[in-house]
Amino acid sequence: MEKIIQQLEEEIREFFHKESSGHDIYHLKRTLNNALAIQEKEGGDKLIIAVSAFLHDIHRIIQNETGSFCSPKDSLPKVAEILNKTDLTEEQKTKILHCIEFHEEYDFSENWKTVNDIETLILQDADNLDAIGAIGIGRTFLFNGANGNIMWAPEKPFTGNTYEESNKKDPSTIHHFYSKLLKLKDNMNTGTAKIMANERHKFMELYLQEFFDEWNWKK
Ligand SMILES: [Fe+2]
Ligand SMILES: [Fe+2]
Repeated sequence: MEKIIQQLEEEIREFFHKESSGHDIYHLKRTLNNALAIQEKEGGDKLIIAVSAFLHDIHRIIQNETGSFCSPKDSLPKVAEILNKTDLTEEQKTKILHCIEFHEEYDFSENWKTVNDIETLILQDADNLDAIGAIGIGRTFLFNGANGNIMWAPEKPFTGNTYEESNKKDPSTIHHFYSKLLKLKDNMNTGTAKIMANERHKFMELYLQEFFDEWNWKK
């Protein structure tokens, strides 16, 4: 497994080189590590999970390059091109493409979740774990900054209960915590990820408390 990940890293390193919105190669590596930690407890095909985790965000790079929205599904031809350079079987490649296609489903999005295979569920959990906690906070400010969004807009109410990546624009970065990040703890699929998410969630709550205290001159 290490060998194929190494081969894939060489393939995609250049591709992710300029990424600075929180979806860089280190996000892929952290997602891979999260996924393997979950797989150890929950089962599922380790190789499928690892390769899917490592290639899941090619759609972000295509989006950066073209400037228009690119869903995970839209990225599948590019992912297939990369997979075709490996020794993976057709069956394995099909399974990996499936995991990547459905990695961004949320209970709180308009379409809910449609998958129930353990490999995709673990990829969703691993990716979402990297969106919360200390790393998640850093990535959120990075992402919103890269997209020209401000830190906090106190005059804007918290609205909109459904989340849709393609057309959503939060009024501020702090709004994004409420439209997505704070919902991820209850969106975890596996028991292992739920435990991992709890600590990270608590840290975000602490962070927000501190943020508002400082903003409101309470300390
Ligand atoms: Fe993604
Ligand atoms: Fe991701």
